[in-house]
Amino acid sequence: MSDSSNHQDSASSNTKSQQGVQVHYRSDYKPYPYDIKDVYLAFDLAPNATIVDTTLTIQRKADADNQAPLCLDGVDLELLSIAIDDKELDQSEYRLIEDGLEVLNVPERFTLTTKVKISPDTNTSLEGLYLSSGKYCTQCEAQGFRKITFYPDRPDVMSTFKVRIEAVADKFPHLLSNGNRIEHGEIEGGKHYAVWEDPFKKPSYLFALCAGDYDLLTSSFTTMTGREVRLEIYVDKGKLDQCHHAMESLKKAMKWDEEVFGLEYDLDTYMIVAVGDFNMGAMENKGLNIFNTKYVLASPDTATDTDFIDVEAVIGHEYFHNWTGNRVTCRDWFQLSLKEGLTVFRDQEFTADQTDHGVKRIEDVKVIRSHQFAEDAGPMAHPIRPDSYIEMNNFYTVTVYNKGAEVIRMYQTLLGRDGFKRGLDVYFERHDGQAVTCEDFVRAMEDANGYDLQQFRRWYSQAGTPEVTVSSNYDADKRQLTLSFTQSCRPTPGQEDKEPFHIPVKVGLIDTLGKDIELKPVSLTDSDARVEGDIVHLKSAQQSVTFDDVPRNVIPSILRGFSAPVKLHYDYSLKELIFLFANDSDSFNRWQAGQELFSRVIFDLCEQQEKGGTLRFDDSVVSATKNLLDDNSLDGQFKSLALTIPGVSTLLEQTNSINIDHLITARDFLKKQLAEKLELDWLLHYQTNRHLGDYEQDKESVSKRALCGTCLGYLMTLEKDSAYQLALKQLETANNMTDASIALQLIVHSNYEQKLKVAEDFYQKWQSEELVINKWLSIMATDPSDETIDRIESLLDHPSFELKNPNKVRSLIGAFTSANPRQFHRADGRGYEYLARQIKSLYAINPQVSARLTGAFNRWRKFDSERQQKMRQQLEVILSMPELSKDVFEIASKALK
Ligand code: PHE
Ligand code: ZN
Repeated sequence: MSDSSNHQDSASSNTKSQQGVQVHYRSDYKPYPYDIKDVYLAFDLAPNATIVDTTLTIQRKADADNQAPLCLDGVDLELLSIAIDDKELDQSEYRLIEDGLEVLNVPERFTLTTKVKISPDTNTSLEGLYLSSGKYCTQCEAQGFRKITFYPDRPDVMSTFKVRIEAVADKFPHLLSNGNRIEHGEIEGGKHYAVWEDPFKKPSYLFALCAGDYDLLTSSFTTMTGREVRLEIYVDKGKLDQCHHAMESLKKAMKWDEEVFGLEYDLDTYMIVAVGDFNMGAMENKGLNIFNTKYVLASPDTATDTDFIDVEAVIGHEYFHNWTGNRVTCRDWFQLSLKEGLTVFRDQEFTADQTDHGVKRIEDVKVIRSHQFAEDAGPMAHPIRPDSYIEMNNFYTVTVYNKGAEVIRMYQTLLGRDGFKRGLDVYFERHDGQAVTCEDFVRAMEDANGYDLQQFRRWYSQAGTPEVTVSSNYDADKRQLTLSFTQSCRPTPGQEDKEPFHIPVKVGLIDTLGKDIELKPVSLTDSDARVEGDIVHLKSAQQSVTFDDVPRNVIPSILRGFSAPVKLHYDYSLKELIFLFANDSDSFNRWQAGQELFSRVIFDLCEQQEKGGTLRFDDSVVSATKNLLDDNSLDGQFKSLALTIPGVSTLLEQTNSINIDHLITARDFLKKQLAEKLELDWLLHYQTNRHLGDYEQDKESVSKRALCGTCLGYLMTLEKDSAYQLALKQLETANNMTDASIALQLIVHSNYEQKLKVAEDFYQKWQSEELVINKWLSIMATDPSDETIDRIESLLDHPSFELKNPNKVRSLIGAFTSANPRQFHRADGRGYEYLARQIKSLYAINPQVSARLTGAFNRWRKFDSERQQKMRQQLEVILSMPELSKDVFEIASKALK
């Protein structure tokens, strides 16, 4: 494929030097010197020769240098003609430069027309205009529009778009773009056309075009001011029955945003198109969202309970972007968290309102702990507002998205729900229709509330996870409890020393009966931390707070609700943890106590292995587990989360260096012991929660399925025929994908003799359902047994696998590297070799997805020296690949620095 992503200048030869790699800096921002008043695009669609005619009405800004050349971005475009005010330019009047075009001596006002040829058929990067199973679609964020036409492809250039699309009528009956369709008709030669106009000014990254033969689901929504909005979901033929959940989710999202934030939809139509080939989850193009099929299609027999919630969340997320992202957008890509952190926060709140706040919070924090903490501790660590990048696509990260959402959540904690909403109101009042910065957002929050966020701004500028260490001291005479806090943050690349953060720490004090006591903070010294309600405001490296009227033996519950994205250290005794696990009124901290209990046992078991003794742990852990399982006041989903031992990636972030074999052995040992000692309990809860009647999707049924899955998971570790039979029966009789896929996974990941036959039967049954087969691929790839490495080798040639499809790559290769620690980190290094070989096959096809896969090596410094050496070697292999994409180059070279 063409080398749009090859940034090397040819003189720098074939070694990957850093010369020729351009680094972009936030501090280099300069406004664009021209206004693009409006844009007219005319597409004549053809697989290898799509013609794009572009007319731009341009005016130099009043304060711009009148010598400023007109610089346009353009990648992989064949320029056919260029004219200013209808006069064709000759070669001396413009210059084609690397990735763009420069026109010198342009007048103050003019129209520029260009005609280019592009090839959607060979565009495997899935950026720009491409074909996905015979249908055209676009992806322009962050910098894909430059693969469609010459244009200032940056988010602060906003314009109104009018788009004409022309294509063969029978193959492409639907021709879609942003806004309203204002004209359409037949043209000769079996072709037809449509013209679309979007009344809202937008940056190029929100442009979209789709053309194809789809099935269409329509509905409508009446907004709070009584406007009727037409809702349309376009999917592959035959998939209509899997769209209803997406449609209901969209209506819920529209209603929720009106009720909670007073935000109303602004166009007459809202369209969603689902495509099978997509690099990410979905895209918020104005009025025409494009979705990965994974986040649209869902029916009980093909989608799990989690899939249903994910569809609702992503539909919500893209819808919420209409205000937080589209109406108010980003000035430059360093500000990405302005729209993404805020919109993730909004979708988290939406899901919590539709499901369960406690459960949702735990699930969101799991992502932070397992993925974001890892990123913050590795070579790619960056603040939620990065200072530089080589390839912007590499900065669509858990830090920008999920840590960004945690930062937004902290505003709500500091300012209260009302204060936060007031801040948002000011933000929209001031900035509707503008491209702005994170600083503008902070200022809106400050001004709306008269609240000083000076120190809080460090969350935007400093990378790394702050660590908060707390100790307590009880003065029995005075009946006072003092909590002493220290905070620190390790160096991250380019940031050696960090200033203290403003950290809101939510605390509770629990008496011996398990009840929260009233907090009565007293100020003893000026340097004491301020306490507001149950929030302790940490602002310096060392601070303490003292509470009055505290009875004996009170246990502090700290960082309730995970009130800040930090690592907390408090030296609880085993007994205290068990007490919190049984009693904490804060469901997040109750879950947390169990996680810490399990982690503690696991790290202890690791030490025992180092010393070479027999493995053992305290029986009280078993009874604590049983008590939680038996607690009838708890919801099944919460129980399922609380009874799930922390995953390997989360455990890895709790230590600086680790023997991975010992860690996995310890984790398996703990799980198996709990299974053995509580065998009858797991079985009993499995049986009492197992629902054999018709499929239901209410909260209670979902909870029961979740708990059954967890119980069955424990039972399966016993490697007993009775457990295998239970799983087989669940798989055979399942009337929904939740029950079926967990049963399949447990069987395939066990030592059951016939497991491959079971896997094959499942494949045969579901082979026509792509999304189900992707689950099957993941299950095959995450089997912890030693044969997996050979099996995933041959799966590359399996009819179900397709290297060009990102969902398949993530399901097979991504799942192997991120969710099969035992085999990915094989001592013989074959897991690492496998990954490097896949990157080699993929980087020219899809640089973006390849770079994500490369990230699996990021934490190599944590491992033993043999594994370190083997991972480093593969990173070097990757860096020596010819014409490496800059996406992969950035990840691999930073990993080795
Ligand atoms: N902006 C999209 C979202 O968060 C994600 C995305 C980024 C999709 C880049 C495609 C390309 O919803
Ligand atoms: Zn988003």
